[in-house]
Amino acid sequence: MRRRRPLFFSLKLFAVNFHKREYMMKRKILITAGPTREKWDAVRFLSNRSTGKMGYALAEAARDAGYDVTLVSGPVDLAPVEGVTMVKIESAAEMAEAVKSRSPEMDVVIMAAAVADYRPVHIHQGKMKKLPGNLTLELERTEDILASLGQMKPEGQILVGFAAETDDLLLNAAGKLQRKNLDWIIANDVSKPDRGFGTATNAVTMLGKDGRNIDVPLASKAVIAATILETILA
Ligand code: CTP
Repeated sequence: MRRRRPLFFSLKLFAVNFHKREYMMKRKILITAGPTREKWDAVRFLSNRSTGKMGYALAEAARDAGYDVTLVSGPVDLAPVEGVTMVKIESAAEMAEAVKSRSPEMDVVIMAAAVADYRPVHIHQGKMKKLPGNLTLELERTEDILASLGQMKPEGQILVGFAAETDDLLLNAAGKLQRKNLDWIIANDVSKPDRGFGTATNAVTMLGKDGRNIDVPLASKAVIAATILETILA
């Protein structure tokens, strides 16, 4: 005859299993942040004004919401976010590799990084010496990582992009939402001093593929990040 376990032992087992299940079921989110750098000689590169603040704020908000967070970051001046998996990259090609190799297992992917659209065709060995006259750099397109993610998107994954615009904000953002097969696009006017690249605050409009259009008014990037996450994860 089987002996019955004491009640406290059964309760403990239940708690351990419950904890294990909760751990195993933690939803996974990948966020990108910051600029990329496209080298053209040993000491010079092409880049942009992104500081990574919005992406890092999103990573913190996702961690606080209980997500298993991977943050793929370009070179920025920010401290690593505690409690998340940090992946540091430099170029658009490295970001593409880091993101595409991990994205199939992700429940949510948010591309907040300002990825360079062009890179120099030739990279000089060593530091290039100046010569008389002008210099022309030949540039080639980088991969559009978000568009690739849109093509390989697994069933049920939520894919989110940012649209950094100086003109025709909503029109351009809506075009990217559709072209890149996204669930949400965060339209970000980067022509104003209180929002966009490098600022402590931001204001965005969220466009959903279901036609939703949500204005998130000016606030700290932490508040904007929490609102974006709450909306897309609802
Ligand atoms: N993006 C990307 N790979 C690139 C360029 C952009 O994944 N090579 C992503 C960005 O991370 C962002 C979205 O695409 O989530 C839109 O980026 P944005 O710079 O606003 O627009 P582009 O697609 O580059 O288009 P355009 O330069 O015409 O505005």
